[in-house]
Amino acid sequence: MLSDGRSTRRHRKRFRAVSLTLRGSLYCCLLVILISADSPAKAGNARLSSDNLTYHGTAQRTGWYDNEGLLTPAAVKSGSFGLLWESEPLGYAGTTPPRLFAAPLYVSGLDVTGEAGRTDSLDVVFAASATGFIAAINASAAGGLPAGATLWQRRLLDRPCGNGTRGILSTPVIDRRLGRIYVVGCDESRAWHVHALDLASGASVDGWPLDLSAEAVNSPGINANGDNRFPSGVAMLQRGALNLSADGRWLYVAFGGEPISGWLLSVDTLERRVAGAFSITARTDEGVGGLWASGGPSMDSDGDLYVASGSSFINALEGMGNQGVYPDSDGNWSQSILRLTSGAGGRLRLAGTYAPFNYCQAGGQDIDLGSGTPILVDLPPEDSPNPKLLIHGGSKQGNAYLLDRKRMPGSLVRRQACAEDPIKGAGADTSLLSPDIQPIFGTRGPLNVFGPYSDRVGMGDFAKSRTTPAYLNAPDGRHLVYLTGTAKAAEESSESIPPGLARVEIVVNPDEPPYLRLDAIQPDLILRNPASPVVTSFNRNNAVVWVFDVNVPRSASLYGEDPPRPLLYALDAISLELLWRSAPGQLYPSGKYNEPLVTDGRVFVGTDRIQAFGLGAAMERQGAKASRLHGRRAGPSSNASSSAGIDTTNGPELYEARCAACHDQERADVPSRHELARLNAAVLVEKLTLGSMQGHAMGLDADEVNAVAHWLADSETAVTSP
Ligand code: HEC
Repeated sequence: MLSDGRSTRRHRKRFRAVSLTLRGSLYCCLLVILISADSPAKAGNARLSSDNLTYHGTAQRTGWYDNEGLLTPAAVKSGSFGLLWESEPLGYAGTTPPRLFAAPLYVSGLDVTGEAGRTDSLDVVFAASATGFIAAINASAAGGLPAGATLWQRRLLDRPCGNGTRGILSTPVIDRRLGRIYVVGCDESRAWHVHALDLASGASVDGWPLDLSAEAVNSPGINANGDNRFPSGVAMLQRGALNLSADGRWLYVAFGGEPISGWLLSVDTLERRVAGAFSITARTDEGVGGLWASGGPSMDSDGDLYVASGSSFINALEGMGNQGVYPDSDGNWSQSILRLTSGAGGRLRLAGTYAPFNYCQAGGQDIDLGSGTPILVDLPPEDSPNPKLLIHGGSKQGNAYLLDRKRMPGSLVRRQACAEDPIKGAGADTSLLSPDIQPIFGTRGPLNVFGPYSDRVGMGDFAKSRTTPAYLNAPDGRHLVYLTGTAKAAEESSESIPPGLARVEIVVNPDEPPYLRLDAIQPDLILRNPASPVVTSFNRNNAVVWVFDVNVPRSASLYGEDPPRPLLYALDAISLELLWRSAPGQLYPSGKYNEPLVTDGRVFVGTDRIQAFGLGAAMERQGAKASRLHGRRAGPSSNASSSAGIDTTNGPELYEARCAACHDQERADVPSRHELARLNAAVLVEKLTLGSMQGHAMGLDADEVNAVAHWLADSETAVTSP
């Protein structure tokens, strides 16, 4: 029985033993195809094709891609996984360099009409930047076009918001049938526009862009919550990924920020108009409830929308010393999880609510509930009386919540009374709670994942999580949810400690409501401000968790002389073992919360450009770099990826003179010689000729660059292969 802790552990141990014996063997994969093909839990939960048209893979935001045959844990760990290629950076806005907050999207088999004419059937990655650019980048070498080549790039905003730091923050969404991508951008006057671009050429579709103006949103009958007014000329955050109804007609856009309340807008893409709106508070003077999480709204197969709302920073400041929240009023849905239905004509209607028992305390201290997006998981109906679930994991408090999303417990008029105790009295928590005692409360209550639990400290750099979880139906049938965040050294400390990655199980029983149990934590990894985890597997097997971390606290600048360098991690989803991580400095400076996109054996990371990782790093990259390096004085010969014919005699001498001073030291911020040597020669050459080490290779000619690069790359082979 799954609800019995001991037998579950035994079960798990048995699974681990089986997976060890079989791991990496072909039989294993075949077996799994036979056993788990068409498992009902998969339907709707996993992304099905290699296309990735929306944030976190699906409208439900499940973050699980179950058709990844190449990137098994063994392959990712093998040493042949590495950088394949890099695109050009996206455009600058004046002197502001590009930063990608939006996650990359992907379309395979697209016919593109770029500057060089028409090219059929390309795999294309789409990237949007805070500087207001959107680019289509060739993902696989084809038709004479190298991987990494820019197919088209458009500047959507002449004067982007925040001087190019806030032009486009949200992940766009693609309508494959109409061949369009929708992108929302913000210009200098803080006006918001929805662009619809032709995927093939980047050209604006006729009649677009559409203004998301105060006038349109404030028209009678649009807002479904009270008399709140959509502001104009105010610095809101439109960071939430866009979502699109299954028929492609309704586009959903979430807003958050200070000092206004959160808003969800629905846009009719057929008639090109704002069709509906829901303000998180009914009154304009209650500036709470921002919907600024990077995941935007999630949407289930019925077209119902789910959002988690925040508190208010300004409120918390004003309220120092007291609860700091507005007196509770009807229609104030800050610090809540909401279900909204989209009715006739695109009108939004409130259909379900939940606020945690402690929404007053946490809300008063700006410990947002809605710093992440809830994910929607459908269980096989025979497994549970509550098969349609919602899991929320990205709260600043570091808690995870489980709800029956079709039977949400709250009133549709106002939240329950404030409470101090999770299970006593009128304000008791109404989410699906574990029967177990939670140590932090000494009684039953919500599950704290990233600690220490506090309802006093948790804003800014003290926040524990801002992400959207990812789901996996594991090989042993269990329903697992991966959460990223950052535990803190103490209640009043902003220092990040492990865990940064945790796994929660949805414990199911045919006769009892499901609940969440903390299943495993990754004990070593420190994440400082991670993006949402993404899970890949082949069917249910060979699962890997991918995590991008900007690697600095939330308040750190992403600009300036020495901007932070993010890191990408790959972990075994079952053992939580770290399989691979990018080398320090390998990723370019980036935005925040931009999860990687994994598809067709490659991992695309948005930094200030697209950087692609995969297996057999040496092969695919040749085309792109060889053409860019052609004609440069220090350029390598085109067979740079193989040592054949390269004279490495000078290698050690050059390394001592030029590199050892830094790379032979034990310093956390400089990759060690050992780490350099694990890169392949072509990557080393790239770093020395076009990348961050250009300065240190100044004056070396092509033979010398090749000599040091190939000597380094070969030195590792000599050490590691007996
Ligand atoms: C003054 C110190 C310094 C010197 C000299 C120096 N490096 Fe670096 N190197 C760094 C630092 C710091 C980083 C990490 C940050 C970055 O990539 O900018 C780095 C990063 C690298 C990387 C990228 C590692 C990765 O995984 O992406 C490579 C490759 C590299 N160096 C090679 C060399 C080689 C080869 C030389 C000699 C020709 C050299 N460096 C000289 C400081 C130095």
